[in-house]
Amino acid sequence: MKKIILSLSMAASMFASTNLFVTSDQNTLKIDGAEVYFGSPATLIKDRKASKIVKFEGFIDAAHPDILFATKNYKLPLVRSKNIVKNGEKGSIELELSSSNLTNDQAMAWEDSGDIFYDKCTKCHGTHAPKEFDMLSWEGLYGSMKDRAQPTDNQEMQILRYLYAHSNDGILDEK
Ligand code: HEC
Repeated sequence: MKKIILSLSMAASMFASTNLFVTSDQNTLKIDGAEVYFGSPATLIKDRKASKIVKFEGFIDAAHPDILFATKNYKLPLVRSKNIVKNGEKGSIELELSSSNLTNDQAMAWEDSGDIFYDKCTKCHGTHAPKEFDMLSWEGLYGSMKDRAQPTDNQEMQILRYLYAHSNDGILDEK
């Protein structure tokens, strides 16, 4: 039975090999000319083994042309850079990242932020799954829970990113 599960999960990860996620023990990863937010999804363009060229795609808010956002509501930033290529309301950027900062394991890339969310936000009540609300609602709900949960600034960004990314108008399903 174990063998079957193993080969199934290997097949699944092979199909997903072009979908990579940024891993970082900081909230953002600072590289030459750009700052990349943890957990951001990217597509593989070129694998140089020790490093990879990856492409980030998203939306650009005219008020913040240096930031590539995951969705059109401009709540979940992916990359901050002056070199984002604009195409109407959409944008993209190709960057070279160390392979150690990329993984095809979505759960791993989001693990720390998920842990903080579940730790800080289930002390007084049961879990409110990210999928229960959309990003805008989470922004308001978080605002009313912040004083109760008392996160550090660092934890705040982790919790909000986790909620937004996995919300019902987010970009990921919880793994
Ligand atoms: C100190 C206690 C406490 C902590 C910590 C806490 N909450 Fe709450 N939360 C409450 C109370 C009290 C309510 C209102 C009554 C209820 O639903 O239990 C509530 C309600 C909610 C609701 C339901 C709101 C609705 O309108 O349906 C959500 C969602 C929520 N909290 C999210 C969070 C999140 C996210 C965090 C972490 C940032 C968090 N809570 C941390 C006490 C807390």
